[in-house]
Amino acid sequence: MARITLDPHRRIGTVDRGIFGGFIEHLGRCIYGGIFEEGSPLSDERGFRRDVLEALRPFRMPVLRWPGGNFVSGYHWLDGVGPVEQRPRRIELAWHGEEPNRFGTDEFIEYCRALGTDPFIVVNMGSGTMDEAQAWVEYCNGTGDTHWANLRRKHGHEEPYGVKYWGLGNEMYGKWQIGSLSAEDYVKKARQFAAMMKWTDPSVRLVSCGQQGWNDWDRIVLEGLADLVDYHSIHIYTGSDLYYTNVLHPHQADRALRICEATIERTRYEKRIDHPIYIAYDEWNVWYRERSPEARRAGLEERYSLADAVAVATFLNIFIRHCRSVRMANLAQMVNVIAPIVTSRQGMFLQTIYHPFRLYAEHTREVALDVDVECDTYAFAPGEEDVSVRPHRIADLGPFALLDAAATCDVEGREICLAVVNRDRERAIAATIRVLDGTIGSPVRAYEVWGEDPEVTNSFERPAAVDVRERQVERRGADLGHAFPPHSVTVMRIPVG
Ligand code: AHR
Repeated sequence: MARITLDPHRRIGTVDRGIFGGFIEHLGRCIYGGIFEEGSPLSDERGFRRDVLEALRPFRMPVLRWPGGNFVSGYHWLDGVGPVEQRPRRIELAWHGEEPNRFGTDEFIEYCRALGTDPFIVVNMGSGTMDEAQAWVEYCNGTGDTHWANLRRKHGHEEPYGVKYWGLGNEMYGKWQIGSLSAEDYVKKARQFAAMMKWTDPSVRLVSCGQQGWNDWDRIVLEGLADLVDYHSIHIYTGSDLYYTNVLHPHQADRALRICEATIERTRYEKRIDHPIYIAYDEWNVWYRERSPEARRAGLEERYSLADAVAVATFLNIFIRHCRSVRMANLAQMVNVIAPIVTSRQGMFLQTIYHPFRLYAEHTREVALDVDVECDTYAFAPGEEDVSVRPHRIADLGPFALLDAAATCDVEGREICLAVVNRDRERAIAATIRVLDGTIGSPVRAYEVWGEDPEVTNSFERPAAVDVRERQVERRGADLGHAFPPHSVTVMRIPVG
């Protein structure tokens, strides 16, 4: 028997809806054939796939990152503005494709408006120059009678776009990145870019390019850029063919966040930085199948299992628990490319991971609570863990509570949203849920993502093999009683009197 205790007075902090951000890259069929398909009966007059837009809406996505990813380090934004027929078709070196440039800055901003989301643009610090980055900020945000602002006007956009979030390059530490750099060289270059961008628009919020949060790269970059940036980014993808490694691997994010939080705190103290520096977890997801060079050329069309959905929910629990530092997170990516939505020319289906992401985006409330969970734990037996995963090894982070929970409430404490992930592969776990200092009202609603087989996937043939179902929650005196099925995700809304 497990016990979950909720206390609306034990508050961790405010949850920034920025954790439900997204990411779209010019890679495979994410943009072309994903969100954007000109001439399709499924698209509107702008070329935006209507069905995809509708599937993205329930996320109420606060921020969308673009255009990469590795792609951005070879991207010259000027190629993607102006009359579409005159835009150059370029060789694309990050993913070995061809870039038609039919979707560029103006189309991206239009897409963000259609979705009601804030744009987040990453600048090219690989093959790009600081002049180009400066010009991009001016094109988007410039209000003066100057060349790049006037070019935007000439393209039919009188009012500035007011793009608030700007990333200083993508994964510049990686050998796979066009123009990769040492941490020291990145700092020098990023300071120059940042200065030009801020002088162009002092209101922009800059994101320094981090690694996994725990690397020397992160420390050197934070020390070098703390005075200029508002966010530091982390990227971690997880996953394994072995069930327990797969569902527990997201705890690497716990490690990453703890170390990165400490590094930020130390840097701010040492350097006497007054402004806060938050973490933008601007690429995260499960991704382990489509990793080979061939898969990369084929556009990373990962098919997600129910176990992967369990992992995704665990990531979200971790972001909620770290809400004081994680103010943005971007699920990578949105469509077709390691994504919750898969399209064909005729339609689309929702992958397993769509469901927890949507449930959390819909039901998570404003304030994170310090939820107490007493339950059985899981520890890896010697030799059992899949140590081939990257980032490697999580056994030292265990033993892991089999039920992983995150709770949030509204500011007044009148309703709690409890999210529970049961990572036990075989067994349901029955739990008593108690709310301290409050009476549980009704109705209590529970939404569950579950299926018999943790390896089941959705597909065009079986689009709802994994779906959301609503379940009854039992009353046990003043408490609630609920059996969480094996390898399941449950989101509950509990009114408190
Ligand atoms: O999201 C796929 C790729 O993963 C991104 O382009 C890159 O930033 C990361 O390595």
